[in-house]
Amino acid sequence: MMKTLCFTLGLLLLTACCCNAMPEALKFNTAPGNCCFKFFTQKIPVKRVFNITKTHSSCQNQAFIVHTIRGIPICFRETFQWARDIYSQQHYIVGSSQQL
Ligand SMILES: *[C@@H]1O[C@H](CO)[C@@H](O)[C@H](O)[C@H]1NC(C)=O
Repeated sequence: MMKTLCFTLGLLLLTACCCNAMPEALKFNTAPGNCCFKFFTQKIPVKRVFNITKTHSSCQNQAFIVHTIRGIPICFRETFQWARDIYSQQHYIVGSSQQL
């Protein structure tokens, strides 16, 4: 009886642990692994931009990653003005008040 309770409790804790860890794992999915080493130097049509994110701060080269509507990630230098504009536009439209 006691054993079963313990087991159930343990399982519950484990599940809670896993559930909590999930979003974190997803959030960092685009992070350390995805660094940019090659950079696209041309603008692409804005209508082909699906979303834009920044690479993780641990990356050697800070960069923007543009995902095209076809789901292909393209790297742009952090200093590339076009990418900066897209980034600020998209994050303005999304209206994220939780930006740091
Ligand atoms: C951007 O789009 C790509 C491709 O659809 C997707 O894998 C990625 O999770 C998206 N990133 C964000 C921040 O929405």
